[in-house]
Amino acid sequence: MAVLVTGGAGYIGSHTVALLTQQQRDVVVLDSLELGTKSRIDTVPFFQGNISDERLIEKICKKHDITEVIHFAAYKAVGESMEQPLRYYNNNVGGTIDLVRALLANGVERMVFSSSAAVYGNPASVPVTEDSPLLPESVYAETKAVMERFLASCDAIGMRSVSLRYFNAAGASADSSIGEDWSMSQNLVPLVMKAILGFSGPLNVFGNDYPTPDGTCIRDYIHVEDLADAHVKALDYLEQGGASLACNVGTGRGTSVLEVIDIAEQVSGRKVPHVVTSRRAGDPTSVYADPTLVRALLGWKATRDLRDIITSAWNWHSKIENV
Ligand SMILES: NC(=O)c1ccc[n+]([C@@H]2O[C@H](COP(=O)([O-])OP(=O)(O)OC[C@H]3O[C@@H](n4cnc5c(N)ncnc54)[C@H](O)[C@@H]3O)[C@@H](O)[C@H]2O)c1
Repeated sequence: MAVLVTGGAGYIGSHTVALLTQQQRDVVVLDSLELGTKSRIDTVPFFQGNISDERLIEKICKKHDITEVIHFAAYKAVGESMEQPLRYYNNNVGGTIDLVRALLANGVERMVFSSSAAVYGNPASVPVTEDSPLLPESVYAETKAVMERFLASCDAIGMRSVSLRYFNAAGASADSSIGEDWSMSQNLVPLVMKAILGFSGPLNVFGNDYPTPDGTCIRDYIHVEDLADAHVKALDYLEQGGASLACNVGTGRGTSVLEVIDIAEQVSGRKVPHVVTSRRAGDPTSVYADPTLVRALLGWKATRDLRDIITSAWNWHSKIENV
């Protein structure tokens, strides 16, 4: 009995693999390594390949007695998705369909799926609850909404699933062994670290004229190790017979861009060089989660705050950049 982790050599996947391993669970990783790094997961059985490769899925399921899956593998760059819709639909949607077909053919009937708060688009009110309408504003977010609906439909043919709508994953492992590589991410925290350490010019702050207390956009930053824990709890929920569902995974706290910069300066003891530029098209003003459902059904709650996120990111980035 083992859990298959697709995309397990990526950022969130590798932190989840580390937690599963710490808990002595049997884990197998499948990753194309197109955007992942093998050294992040050196201690677990690994297959390099594509989620669309049904023969490979069959081989892994048989060899390792797979009973459940955490499905991270996808492309995630919003801007790129608008320019390359075929590539995004093909990998994210087509790949997931192929994967589910192969899993069902091999008797695997439980899946935890990486969805995103991006499915809500620019929500009419915050905190966002799960019954807010899904109004994706990018091809990337559309692929997540489509996959959620696909998985909900697959309930009728035996695949139970939990779609976790992540808010903004950030931070690094407590032992500073893995973190979020800025060369593969456009997320705020790695870009703040890149600017502090002098590996880029000043950080762009996209607009300071939003209707928020300091004028900058507000997001819900969740520590990647808390997020990993949500996956483990979702596996347990499904194993105990829980019904398919989609739920938010966020802290319930909104933080502005300037607040992130302020904490990063306190933690690092250095200035974050930054410039305010014009707003970026499509950026919602404020998005943070109502985490009531995930707490009630999965028994999950964030245990780390923004300072923990920034401290872990700073420790990891300053360690690897000093090597
Ligand atoms: N990082 C975030 O803040 C965030 C927020 C919401 C949702 N998500 C979702 O969480 C998941 C993981 O995100 P991440 O930040 O760890 O991304 P990542 O790019 O670091 O990891 C994705 C991994 O999947 C692999 N992969 C992609 N397509 C594949 C395929 N067809 N077959 C096999 N492997 C494949 C890549 O090589 C990579 O290692 C993604 O589905 C992403 O859309 C991430």
